[in-house]
Amino acid sequence: MGTKNILVTGGAGFIGTNFIRQVLVEMKNWRVVNLDALTYAGNLANFQDFSTSLTNRHRFIHGDIRDKSLLARLFAEESFDIVAHFAAESHVDRSILGPEAFLETNVEGTFHLLEASLKSWKERGRPKRFRFLHISTDEVYGSLGPEGYFTESTPYDPSSPYSASKAASDHFVRAYFRTYGLPTIITNCSNNFGPYQFPEKLIPLMILNIMEEKPLPVYGDGKQVRDWLYVIDHCDGLVRVLQEGRPGETYNIGGGAERQNIDVVHMLCDFLDVRLDRTGRKSSRNLIQFVSDRPGHDRRYAIDASKIRGELKWSPAHKFEEALEATVDWYVANKDWVEMVRSGEYRKWIEINYDRRG
Ligand code: NAD
Ligand code: TYD
Repeated sequence: MGTKNILVTGGAGFIGTNFIRQVLVEMKNWRVVNLDALTYAGNLANFQDFSTSLTNRHRFIHGDIRDKSLLARLFAEESFDIVAHFAAESHVDRSILGPEAFLETNVEGTFHLLEASLKSWKERGRPKRFRFLHISTDEVYGSLGPEGYFTESTPYDPSSPYSASKAASDHFVRAYFRTYGLPTIITNCSNNFGPYQFPEKLIPLMILNIMEEKPLPVYGDGKQVRDWLYVIDHCDGLVRVLQEGRPGETYNIGGGAERQNIDVVHMLCDFLDVRLDRTGRKSSRNLIQFVSDRPGHDRRYAIDASKIRGELKWSPAHKFEEALEATVDWYVANKDWVEMVRSGEYRKWIEINYDRRG
């Protein structure tokens, strides 16, 4: 395959960082332009350890996907073969307390990116190899009962301002394929975990609270189910989709690892207790506190990944428990990173979100 010039939006966030790190190592003929507004969730230090050979293929641009003139300049300057769109406001709890930013970045931002992509694609004679990959979530499908799975044809039924904004953006992306022929692909993935995840999401938050002997806030009865996907497996799947996926299609990407939240928290306690020598009566499980539930809390997510498995021969390469343990070890080994991302704003968020839950 020839050289590819890729625009990655939100490349300083959790999944974008893992994607860029993986792509630059594995795809020697790919060059990445990383456009990120560096909100609280974005961190350039994620690339600090890059060798010169990787840095040479990574151009960082500090900017906002809502900035139309910046997009116009960037698309004129660079001939992108691929736009991999990760940038988003991504945290459900934040969307409940402040939905506007979600509408602005996830819907308007995606719209401006589509417009810039369409203009550039048309000006270049509609190259067939161009791809606009929109990274979305299984949360657009709403909540499952105890049975069944989300397939690519499950009707959209989002519950939170976050998932509503992602659903709206998915509709725009699909419309740009159907109306203008822009070669777009949508992926809807399940809950990711792994290195570089901002410690406001369940797994990294619990890891750090266990390490610091702080309360472990479990929402409601803790029996909600998520289908956990190791970020490394997710990024492999995204590369497969970029290489072999068909324009206009949607691919669901799931980890095939359904677990209740409380079981995940127990597992994290047990992994860390061994490392912190806290077994028996000192177990970190004593730190668990059941707190008031999230409004509109989806009960269960679970993905039917048979389409990507059959069509693109992708399936997760890692076992959940092993990947979770590796993630725990990453946070233990990267305390400096954790300190760096826990800004004053982070501390304020923890106070606002957890004080009101009691
Ligand atoms: P994240 O919150 O860790 O990172 C988002 C990144 O986008 C940050 O670097 C932030 O600075 C950047 N950003 C935010 N607003 C921006 C703007 N207006 N312009 C430019 N950059 C902006 O999110 P993540 O967990 O890495 O998720 C990436 C994508 O994957 C999102 O679209 C999210 O909806 C989707 N997704 C995530 C998960 C998950 O479990 N994390 C699951 C399903 C789908
Ligand atoms: P989260 O990581 O926020 O992802 P999402 O809401 O996108 O699934 O939450 C995962 C699950 O963990 C979800 O059911 C809410 C629950 N949760 C808690 O019980 N306590 C917490 O402190 C957090 C952040 C999440």
